[in-house]
Amino acid sequence: MVTVKVGDITQLHVDAIVNAANSSLLGGGGVDGAIHRAAGPGLLEECRTLGGCKTGDAKLTAGYDLPARFVIHTVGPVWTGGQSGEPALLESCYRRCFELALERGVSTIAFPAISTGVYGYPKDAAAGIATSVMREHEDRFAEIVACCFSEQDASVYRHALE
Ligand code: AR6
Repeated sequence: MVTVKVGDITQLHVDAIVNAANSSLLGGGGVDGAIHRAAGPGLLEECRTLGGCKTGDAKLTAGYDLPARFVIHTVGPVWTGGQSGEPALLESCYRRCFELALERGVSTIAFPAISTGVYGYPKDAAAGIATSVMREHEDRFAEIVACCFSEQDASVYRHALE
């Protein structure tokens, strides 16, 4: 089942939440900053041992003080007009997160709208990619949450899911 929720991803009681990180994995603004603040310093400590992460790839850590047991950190592409492989890289982010989640027996997972903040990916196009990879995986999870930070973003996802 794919569901759309509006709110702060750090508050969700799911097995895993996905972080829209940068390649250093050492924190930042946006959802990344919120996740690090809510998880506490243990998260940064574990992230320091991971050696960063390539764009389109993902790495898993514990959730520390979060309700979620795991955080899956992925690095979305920076939008530079769409001719630099951005769609394939964004799709790869969602696929790699699902792969890691399945390896760890995750059954409920929540994603933010990767790359659509600071990284500038157009929201409609990003939601199209996100929801198609979510649909492909919905039989293997109890719940896949598209966690939107505004009602407006949620309506983009609801439209993409129709
Ligand atoms: N819960 C759910 N969604 C959120 C939250 C939250 N607490 N906070 C923001 N969003 P962004 P990016 C939404 O910029 O574009 C960081 O500095 C936000 O409205 O967080 O992938 C990293 O370190 C938007 O829809 O991530 C990187 O350097 C979405 O999350 C860089 O930003 C993603 O926005 C990554 O940029």
